[in-house]
Amino acid sequence: MAGKQMLNIVKMKRMKQDGDPISMITAYDYPSAVLAEEAGVDIILVGDSLGNVVLGYDTTIPVTLDDMVYHSRSVARGAKNTFIVTDMPFMTYHGSIDETLRGVSRIMQEGHAQAVKMEGGAEIADTVKRIVQAGVPMLGHIGLTPQSVNQIGGYRIQGKDEADAKRLLEDARALEQAGAFGIVLELVTEEVAAYISSELSIPTIGIGAGRGCDGQVLVYHDVLKYTSNYRNKRFVKTFGDIGEQIRSGISAYVQEVKTRQFPAEEHVFAAEDGVLDNLYGKGKAEIHS
Ligand code: KIV
Repeated sequence: MAGKQMLNIVKMKRMKQDGDPISMITAYDYPSAVLAEEAGVDIILVGDSLGNVVLGYDTTIPVTLDDMVYHSRSVARGAKNTFIVTDMPFMTYHGSIDETLRGVSRIMQEGHAQAVKMEGGAEIADTVKRIVQAGVPMLGHIGLTPQSVNQIGGYRIQGKDEADAKRLLEDARALEQAGAFGIVLELVTEEVAAYISSELSIPTIGIGAGRGCDGQVLVYHDVLKYTSNYRNKRFVKTFGDIGEQIRSGISAYVQEVKTRQFPAEEHVFAAEDGVLDNLYGKGKAEIHS
């Protein structure tokens, strides 16, 4: 969007205070980033969900730091005026702090993101503190954390009972204290997400976490049905059917190639008059055409 002013983490906090909802969508490549920016989204998340929706894996676990850097760089080229957050993928922030900071630095310097996101609560607070001390804005992510799907035992709603609600609130507070500028709440019950949001001074961004969050995030391919085997998810609203448009567009193209309707007169280029006569001799051009 020409002339658009990029959001920053100070303005995001002000948006929370003013009750101005934050819009975030994922994007994974240059064209999707261009369109998201033109549509006026506040934040683009280069999520490791790219493992599922772009790379065709069943989970986000196989996604590597190289994958994230590559996709983040493409997004940054397409959305120069939009705040970009890029995921740190599976197991890239659980080793030594030096190794973690090297990964964060790659996301920022090679991936051209403005911030990183990491999954986890109190257990990663010390790591978050070091990243923030290094001057890198960090977005937390609690609730359903897909990188731990094997430990959680599936994609389950979080915050259903008292113990779980208490744990989520403690995790959110630990992240806020460690310096996170915001927290994604994924698949959390609406009451608990609203309570956490009211207890924090930093914005919460919900996905399947109800109406009480300070912002919302959805996956690009879900919003637009950008796949052929789209599965309905209760927390997603679809706003387009790009999958159907792409399929019917490509099928019309194939049809026209097969029936020789494409290319037509308006798609071809003509040589200068007499060029074939000069090449092959007068009258012989037809033999070679
Ligand atoms: O990777 C991702 O797309 C995410 C969102 C679901 C928040 O983490």
